[in-house]
Amino acid sequence: MAITQDETVKNPAHGGELVNRESGNSTQDDNNLKKIIISKWTISDLELVGIGGFSPLTGFMGKEDYENVVHNLRLTDGTVWSIPITLPVSKEEADKIEIGEEVALVGEDGITYGTIQIEEKYTYDKEVEAEKVYGTKEDKHPGVKKVYEKGEVYLAGPITLLNRPDHGEFEDFYMDPIETRQMFKDLGWKTIVGFQTRNPVHRAHEYIQKTALEAVDGLLLNPLVGETKSDDIPADVRMESYQTILKHYYPENRTRLVIYPAAMRYAGPREAILHAIVRKNYGCTHFIVGRDHAGVGDYYGTYDAQELISKYEDELGIQIFKFEHAFYCKKCENMASAKTCPHGKEDHVHLSGTKVREMLKNGQKPPKEFSRPEVVEVLIKGMQK
Ligand code: ADX
Repeated sequence: MAITQDETVKNPAHGGELVNRESGNSTQDDNNLKKIIISKWTISDLELVGIGGFSPLTGFMGKEDYENVVHNLRLTDGTVWSIPITLPVSKEEADKIEIGEEVALVGEDGITYGTIQIEEKYTYDKEVEAEKVYGTKEDKHPGVKKVYEKGEVYLAGPITLLNRPDHGEFEDFYMDPIETRQMFKDLGWKTIVGFQTRNPVHRAHEYIQKTALEAVDGLLLNPLVGETKSDDIPADVRMESYQTILKHYYPENRTRLVIYPAAMRYAGPREAILHAIVRKNYGCTHFIVGRDHAGVGDYYGTYDAQELISKYEDELGIQIFKFEHAFYCKKCENMASAKTCPHGKEDHVHLSGTKVREMLKNGQKPPKEFSRPEVVEVLIKGMQK
């Protein structure tokens, strides 16, 4: 049975209603429209607005929303929102475009992914955006680097999604928020925990997911497969590793793997809020925020994301499961955290992400206390490709 309006009211999208900005007519004639070439990153933002993943956004942010989000973590109407969703262009491009005009948004592949009705164009301060959103002005931070590389003008206005991007080999794992909501209903899941990741699922991830799964009906493993920094493990290798771990270690009737097609910002605490909002829009009732969520390097404290999201939790309408740093303890012979293990660091198995990637590239196997052997096999094969 299809989901009813009543049901989306019980578990509403962020801001109240699930947005749909998709045109049924993907061959819409755009020949007489000016064209803007958009990056993969922008295509993924366009898609997420179009399918309602970024509800209540209906387009790229205007100046007032942008300023409010950057400075106050809210849209102009007061709704919590933590990361600007914007359409950057060069000054020269912006000069060619008039307010009120409809413009085609075209990928580098020549496909028109959508259109935007231009309501505003405005300049912005990149250092302020970097400092406020990412907590640093350093261009060593991969999210900040992206900010500095963007065009100097933001175009704003409501969008229409004409063509969803092709998700290639991940297409079988692609669902929009209407479809995930329908799937949860068909599965009879009333409580669903969403899990964001840009890494393979290691034992610590598995431990926190399964701890959450003890308390809810289902787990949506929702890995981010959009743009990531070059030293992260590629999405195709990760997707294979997710399927492998699910097959060997998770109950089939309580877990689903669906891709999250967004770009990774590495904005730590602020991105944790965005991640929670999106999962709420996909129909999750719970979301996991563990150690250094969406962090990079030493830019954020281990629990900064948990602290920030706690301030907004009541308004977000999705319950946050917060987990302390989890590890395998040799004395406990179990996964644990400081909350459950009395032993010292010397008994805990700890490997940094960098160390693990190095090991995998050299064909060395991280211990089974860190990663399931079946996953290690997939990763070694993938990383040596
Ligand atoms: S990211 O998208 O948040 O950057 P990552 O794969 O590193 O992805 O983490 C996914 C989720 O697991 C995040 O909520 C993160 O905080 C949590 N997490 C990762 N490792 C641990 C750990 N050892 N202990 C507790 N939580 C963890």
